[in-house]
Amino acid sequence: MDFNLTEEQIMIRDAARDFAQSELLPGVIERDEKQEFPREQIKKMGELGFLGMMVDPKYGGGGMDTASYVLAMEEISKIDASASVVMSVNNSLVCWGLEAFGTEEQKQKYLTKLATGEIIGAFCLSEPEAGSDATSQKTTAIDKGDYYLLNGTKNWITNGNTASVYLVIAQTDIEKGHKGINALIVEKGVEGFEVGPKENKLGIRGSDTHSLMFTDVKVPKENRIGEDGFGFKFAMKTLAGGRIGIASQALGIASGAYELALKYSKERKSFGTEICNHQAIAFKLADMATHIEAARMLCLRAAWDKDEKKNYDQSGAMAKLYAAEMAMNVATEAVQIHGGYGFVKEYHVERLMRDAKITQIYEGTSEIQKIVISRNILRG
Ligand code: CAA
Repeated sequence: MDFNLTEEQIMIRDAARDFAQSELLPGVIERDEKQEFPREQIKKMGELGFLGMMVDPKYGGGGMDTASYVLAMEEISKIDASASVVMSVNNSLVCWGLEAFGTEEQKQKYLTKLATGEIIGAFCLSEPEAGSDATSQKTTAIDKGDYYLLNGTKNWITNGNTASVYLVIAQTDIEKGHKGINALIVEKGVEGFEVGPKENKLGIRGSDTHSLMFTDVKVPKENRIGEDGFGFKFAMKTLAGGRIGIASQALGIASGAYELALKYSKERKSFGTEICNHQAIAFKLADMATHIEAARMLCLRAAWDKDEKKNYDQSGAMAKLYAAEMAMNVATEAVQIHGGYGFVKEYHVERLMRDAKITQIYEGTSEIQKIVISRNILRG
């Protein structure tokens, strides 16, 4: 067993770290406050190859392994989780989904642009009444011969307004249950497709979360991903990889908060010494560092499973479950170590604590991860 990173992985991690420090850190507090999408920064991330990291170079991607993606996600998320969620959705849900299951024409038309960041994509599964219970899709895609007629509403869509391409999950044949669901590629600007107002969120406030309304939208048959009825499995398989991305985001939020707390504890004095010399603080730091390392191992393990073409449903869900819960705890402890300063915006940790919360909710709540893990365990 070799825990060393390769030279390439180190280079990618360091490039992401430098980018986050030089391009994302300036203005991150203001973007959070104004709910401003990091447009320029995302454009540069595309140019640097962070938006299609694992895509085959023949489609414009970086051809990197999933471990490199985990490392880069951690570094970007330490500084700006609003930027890293864009990165995660574009890489894991949109590019991966299209590369794994799209036709050659779909890849040439959409993936080549998504992988370079020329355009951004969105993944549209959740609905007002179907979040965790993803088979209960109310959005319909009725088969009209050479096109589907799409009607319904999607909720909580990351990149909701910024995206140019949307992978929309919808029910074609209710009688068939989850086997009657399809995944369709919908382009922005088609008739009947409307983007709702931006959600005013607790965390990842710079990211672009909207509801989407589809009214009699005609989607050509060639825009269906996979065979008729493959949509639910497409969503599940895609989300399984997406969970590695969000686990890495949670890991990054935690390590960002920990690094700030460690630095602060070495500078701030109380009772005649730096606060890190008090066991109450030193023990917190020890716990935080240990849990972060455990989450990193789980993320890299799931990434390895994926790269080795092993099943990563369970390892990805474990990484997501553990990293998200850990991020919430670590970020809260980082605020505590900062005392009153932790409660104000300039010190960054309050934002990281707010950002951590969503990692317990999206791409399947912690409770959903437990369903996935327990089913895998019980199946044997
Ligand atoms: N790979 C392949 N197939 C899978 C699968 C996987 N990982 N998981 C399930 N399936 C298949 C099952 O085998 C089954 O197929 P068969 O009937 O042919 O055997 C079918 O899918 C239905 O599976 P279940 O019976 O297990 O379905 P369920 O209704 O019990 O639900 C669930 C399972 C795990 C709870 C699922 O609904 C789920 O993951 N829910 C959470 C959805 C989610 O993560 N939503 C987040 C939205 S996206 C987002 O947040 C993105 C963002 O913006 C950041």
